[in-house]
Formats: sequence, structure tokens, C-alpha cells
Amino acid sequence: MKFKTIIEPFKIKMVEPILMSTEEMRIQFLKDAHYNTFLLSSDQVIIDLLTDSGTSAMSNTQWSGMMLGDESYAGASSWFKLEKSIRDLTGMPYILPTHQGRAAERILYGTIGRKGKTFISNTHFDTTRANIEFSGAEAIDIPVKIENSNEHFRGDMDVDQLKELIKIKGAENIAAVILTVTNNSGGGQPVSMKNAKEISEICKAHHILLILDGCRIAENSYFVKHYESAYHDYSYRDIAIELCTLADGFVMSAKKDGMVNMGGFLALRNQELADACKNLLIITEGFTTYGGLSGRDMEALAIGLVEVFHPDYLHYRIVSTTYLGEHLHKLGVPVILPVGGHAVYIDAAKMYPHIPLDEYPGQALVGEMYRVGGVRSVEVGSVMFGKYDEQGKLIPAARELVRLALPRRVYTQSHLDYVIEVFEHLMKEKSNVRGYKITKETKFLRHFTAHFIPLQSELVEQKVI
Ligand code: F0G
Repeated sequence: MKFKTIIEPFKIKMVEPILMSTEEMRIQFLKDAHYNTFLLSSDQVIIDLLTDSGTSAMSNTQWSGMMLGDESYAGASSWFKLEKSIRDLTGMPYILPTHQGRAAERILYGTIGRKGKTFISNTHFDTTRANIEFSGAEAIDIPVKIENSNEHFRGDMDVDQLKELIKIKGAENIAAVILTVTNNSGGGQPVSMKNAKEISEICKAHHILLILDGCRIAENSYFVKHYESAYHDYSYRDIAIELCTLADGFVMSAKKDGMVNMGGFLALRNQELADACKNLLIITEGFTTYGGLSGRDMEALAIGLVEVFHPDYLHYRIVSTTYLGEHLHKLGVPVILPVGGHAVYIDAAKMYPHIPLDEYPGQALVGEMYRVGGVRSVEVGSVMFGKYDEQGKLIPAARELVRLALPRRVYTQSHLDYVIEVFEHLMKEKSNVRGYKITKETKFLRHFTAHFIPLQSELVEQKVI
């Protein structure tokens, strides 16, 4: 018998209470946090959709694995388990453990990047770009254009642009092509195997290093299995293994599909490159058999990398994200469609067309979600990526998005129903919402610490000021 109700494929053994704050309390919390939800304390949040990174709930098997953690400095048994688990997935011989994804990025891109070199990606994540630029190299994004894309794989890389860039820059000046699966900064959209194969062939023909940023590789495999007919009969894990055969290296923030709260690694095929990276690893992360990880973390990650491919888990995972996205879409919320794997992205400029871009419609939506329902999300728009011109006028980001990222195995359907109900209220009050002005900011990554004040909203004036 087939049931239409898809349940969370787990039982809850340990719970973390949520403080059910009132709107009045949240208005004060928001004011105290200078209207920046990064500055809230987590117990002021009812549903935390800030990120899916490091926020997963671990399984009983992972927790029991932690008790076996071998904390030896060199040659810990936990390391050999982790190394095997990563080799079985990536097929790559050289594995370097790191404390999180950006450490692996810094080691690899710091080794192969320098002034005059170019990195090309479907979309560089912000830490990836920062590490590349820190090395002196440049980072160019070439996401597929929507009009040329397969509707299920909007995370693909633009193959024609890749060929063109190789001609312009010269293959010898391209340090690496980085394929990010799924494409987080590009709306969490998946990448097709077809696209990955084309890119791999081009890179091989020009002797260019192809790196996978695979922090959401299991979620990407779900879309490949269901939307690329050649892969219908494959297991999710075999799809991921095949994807890895196309690349020369693999960088992973294990805080996503590794199902752990901290961890990362770098896997490589080339011994010379691995040796150069190991030097940096030892200087900055730790010895080669633990990197930045404790033995117990390595045990949990070795198990997480297997659990994440379980069909019941992955089905529940993608169905939950789609459930949230489709219900919001039905309410008329301008959701980016199709919904990606780990998050629902909302176009805040479309939701609040009356708020000018230099009054940050995305930040306004983030503030409203918190005020109305205690739901925390993140702006991925002009607060995060905006720059100023010489006159101090804002050059807005390409898009004003708000990301609702779902932690893995943490929230149930009723939590998501609550978020949907919050949006019912937000849609009714849409035209009353006003934007924000930034009163304090840092030069880099200002979104983490900026202070805001709300602009003359009647609602805000009555209740806050
Ligand atoms: N690559 C991608 C595609 C990511 O999404 C992230 C992190 C990283 C690299 C860096 O990994 O955080 O372990 O150092 N993304 C988080 C997010 C922060 O919220 O999307 P890290």
C-alpha cells in the first residue's frame, strides 16, 4: 500500500525546548539586536531557518559512534574510518581533514591561486570567492542563463561561456573550474549530470583542474535520479560516486550533507598537489590524521556520509523543502521556482515592490518574519552583496533574495505549517511594511554585524519607537 502522507523517517529521543515568545517580546528583541537577526540570541528564535550549515540533528548511530572517538594525535582509528568513508564516496586517494569547508578552500585555493590566475564556477559561494581573492586570483561566476536552462537544473554552469572564457584567459591561466552542487548562491538549484559531464570533458581537453564543491552532493543526487531519465535506476549514492569520477578534487563543508555540526575535508587525485596542500594543513589545521577535527567528530562524520544517502531520509528531506516552497507559492509569495534542495528562496523585491532597493526589501522581509512569527532567515541581497559607488550611492545586488534554509532532521511538518501561517499574515500586511536604513557597518561582510533603523513605518512607529 502507498500512502500520500510522507512522515519524518525518525523518532525524537531528545528535545530542545523552544521559547514561545510573544510579538511584544520580539519587537523588543529586534530593537535590541539593531534589527539585524544575526545579532539575536538563538533562544529568542522560534523557528531558525538562518542556515542548514552545522544545524543538523545527529542520529543515535552517530552519537554512539562518538563514544568510540579515538583522540590520539597521530594515526587515530577514527581517522582511518573517516578516510575510508570519504574514499568510498569520492574515489580519490588523498584525503585531508579540516575543521570546516572554508579551511579546505583556503588550503587548496591558497596553494593553486595567485595573481594572474582565474577560477570559474557556476556560482562561487562567498567564502570560496573570498579565499580565491585572498590568494590574489580572480573568481568568475557563469551560471546557466534561465532561458537556456533545463527547468529542473537551474544550478548548471554555462558551457558556452566556459569555452569562451578558456579562449579569452588561456587554459594555463585557469587555476580551476569549481562546480558547486547544489548551487547554493544560485538559489540552491541542482546541477545535472549531463552538465557535469560536459564540463569535465572540456576541462580534461584543456588540462584544467575540475573541483567539486560537494557539500550538498546527496541532495543534488536526488534531483539527478528523479529528473534525468538515465539515472532513474541508480541509487543516490551511486549517482554521487559517478559525479566524483568526473572531478580531480572534492571540497566539502561536512556541516551540510555530512550531517555533523562541525567538519570538512579536501580530497584530491594528484599526489604532488596533495603534498603541497598537506604542508599548509599541518601549519594551519593540524596533523594529517585529524586536521581540525577531534576523533569523535570524525566518527560521526564517517557515519553521516553514509546515512545521508538513505532513500527515506533524502525523500523526506527534499519533499519537506518542496512542501514549504509550494505552500508559500500558493499563498502568492514570490518564491524562486522550482524549489531547490536545502532552502526556499523568496524574491523580496517582488514581495515589497514599494520598497526601494536602497531601503533593503530583503532585510524588511527578514525583520517581518521575525516580528510576526519569530522565524529567523537570512537576506541574500543588497545588504549582503551591495556595494557603494564613488558618490556613496548603493549599487544593489543582482537579486533581493531571502533564504529560508532548513536544518536537517530538526523540524517537523507542523513547524513548517507554522511558517506557512506566518506568511499568510505577512501577505495581508505587505503594503504596510517599510524598509531600513543602515546606521553602522563594517567594510567586509557587513551583513553579519550591521545595525539598522526601520524607516517611518506606521506599524513600527506605534510599536517600537
Ligand atoms: N561552499 C558552499 C557551497 C557553502 O554553502 C558553504 C557554506 C561553504 C562552501 C563553506 O563551508 O561554512 O563549512 O566553512 N555555507 C553556509 C550557508 C555557511 O549558510 O550556506 P563552511
